[in-house]
Amino acid sequence: MARIITITSGKGGVGKTSISLNLSLSLASKGFKVCLFDADLGLANVNILTGIYPDKDLESVISGQLGLNDVIIKNYQGIDIIPGSSGVEKLANLTRTQTGTLINAFLDLNEYDYFIFDTSAGISSQVISFCMASHQIILVATCEPTSLTDAYSMLKVLSKYEYKRPVRIVINQVKSGKSAKRAYAKLKDTVKKFLSIKIEPLGIVASDKNVRAAVISQTPFFMLFPDTIASRCIKAITKKLIDKARHTVDLPLELFWDKCLSFLENYNRPEIDLIPEKGVTSTKAPAEENKEKDLNIKKELSQIESKLSTLIKDVGDIKQFLDTHEFIEKNRPEKKIVPPEPEEISLDFESWLNKKNKAF
Ligand SMILES: Nc1ncnc2c1ncn2[C@@H]1O[C@H](COP(=O)(O)OP(=O)(O)O)[C@@H](O)[C@H]1O
Ligand SMILES: [Mg+2]
Repeated sequence: MARIITITSGKGGVGKTSISLNLSLSLASKGFKVCLFDADLGLANVNILTGIYPDKDLESVISGQLGLNDVIIKNYQGIDIIPGSSGVEKLANLTRTQTGTLINAFLDLNEYDYFIFDTSAGISSQVISFCMASHQIILVATCEPTSLTDAYSMLKVLSKYEYKRPVRIVINQVKSGKSAKRAYAKLKDTVKKFLSIKIEPLGIVASDKNVRAAVISQTPFFMLFPDTIASRCIKAITKKLIDKARHTVDLPLELFWDKCLSFLENYNRPEIDLIPEKGVTSTKAPAEENKEKDLNIKKELSQIESKLSTLIKDVGDIKQFLDTHEFIEKNRPEKKIVPPEPEEISLDFESWLNKKNKAF
């Protein structure tokens, strides 16, 4: 039984590998047995940060050539590391036998307290499957708008697959507390508005020149500079993780792999609508789509309401006009038809003519 944490981001270069490795070491320094699974296929993976370049990896385990114990790097500064590399790419297309082999291989590894997955950049099916199957997701972002947008995209996909637990956010390479707060608030507001998924802050890691110095010397900064600001941030995150872990139930590792691999199996099956097929433009999460539909319906309703009220007002105006008109008509003094007075007919032409001229 282990606590399984996937560290992800959406965007590369934000510090996933640095945080995965140093957090693993920090947890180990607190007495926990930690296994770091290097599922980062990028260039700056655990190999670079540790200076260890294994010649065997998960691929040999999947093919059944080796057991996990043959490929695992034991006791690197107190932690064990599983080099995933090319094997991780293969996870998406395993045969049933390979799936069984892999799950069985992980049955031997149940002695860990923490299992940390460092993932690649991007939102691949493998990354999502790790996320969906794990206890906790740590989403790393920086204060840069592009990183926040990518973090949001990742949350949108997780929300689409109805990931239930809150995703824990770490803002890395922070230059000021204010900018970190602003970045988190921006992400939180957008998520709250459009997604059903929840996020919560786990911590920040300050931008620290010793992090780069440690990369160059291929020794984790937590070991090389234990008191540097980045290491202190990692310690604070570790404390929060441990405190929170007291309230969660451990997950058997084989169950994790079962969940993970069946997610990938369904993901690859076109008849199961887990992800929109190619050509389908909508990548919206169901909750988001529903919210959007609700908003459109509300908009239409309010338009109908306003049209109705204009109509009612018009009808009222017409009625009032008719009433007034009727009232006026009713109260108009009756016209008496006065018959014209019979004209005096005079035979005196001159006097008649005089009368006519006066009239003109
Ligand atoms: N807190 C930090 N302060 C300074 N530099 C950092 C920090 N975190 C990461 N970096 C640097 O950023 C680069 C990318 O980090 P990395 O952990 O490889 O990112 P990712 O795994 O997300 O691609 C590395 O060169 C690393 O030294
Ligand atoms: Mg990386």
